[in-house]
Amino acid sequence: MTIEIRKHGRVGAEILGIDLSNPVSADELKQVRAAFAEHGVIFFRDQSISEGQHIAFARAWGPININRFFAAHPHHPEIALVVKEPDQQHNIGGGWHTDHSYDFEPALGSILVARELPPQGGATAFASMYAAYDALPQRLKQQLEGRKAVHSARHVFGSKAVAYEAVQDTRSDGRIGNSAAADVLDDPVHPVIITHPLSGKRAIYVNPSFTLHIQGLSEQGSQDLLQEIYAHCSGPDFQEDFHWREGSIAFWDNRATWHYAYNDYHGHRREMHRITIAGSALA
Ligand code: SIN
Repeated sequence: MTIEIRKHGRVGAEILGIDLSNPVSADELKQVRAAFAEHGVIFFRDQSISEGQHIAFARAWGPININRFFAAHPHHPEIALVVKEPDQQHNIGGGWHTDHSYDFEPALGSILVARELPPQGGATAFASMYAAYDALPQRLKQQLEGRKAVHSARHVFGSKAVAYEAVQDTRSDGRIGNSAAADVLDDPVHPVIITHPLSGKRAIYVNPSFTLHIQGLSEQGSQDLLQEIYAHCSGPDFQEDFHWREGSIAFWDNRATWHYAYNDYHGHRREMHRITIAGSALA
């Protein structure tokens, strides 16, 4: 089978002609890797993979970063459970973010496999931080060049979490926990504009969930600038929804995209399995 790569609207690409339940050949991996670097998020349809095959595919990209704050799969600790039960109001990931920017070596990407879907709704939106950077006004590009920002997980997963409403709800039934681990995390600093390690393209690397402030500016100046960047990045020109079906898999690059899980299926269950792959320090 030959692999076909089909653009997914404004963000991402669908990979056709590959069966992830079989070992991926070196040549297939090369093509998939190139599409991943180019598009920032890739999608697969009509797959039927076991948890073990999910883990094996993830390991082909790098070591697995085991999530400290999400409930783990009972038999496969490498897999974080992203579940919303019918009686829950809040969901995991219901705000624009990029996974693990609170790590000193931020995650390369996350592979999300649909396991149980609501009858409708439950899509995930993706925004391209390559496209958002390219369209930044020159004034902002100049203002941000060389700047660094502090990121944190404490205000999201720690005992004093206030920023991320979803946590309040999900933690209470044990889906997210480990606030003691979040409370003692040090906050990393990353460039606001990165050169992507795979594609060499420039991308914006701050996000509304985990970025605290831009260094070297007053608190107000930093907040004003971050809000301006966020308004720009979440604009309609840089985003696209992905509508899940049985057998769908999304693999996003956390250095090139933001994502956002819609919370529009109250009363129904949604279960996704996520594996996050370790990355490296950003420059
Ligand atoms: C996530 O934010 O990692 C989960 C996204 C989703 O459930 O669609």
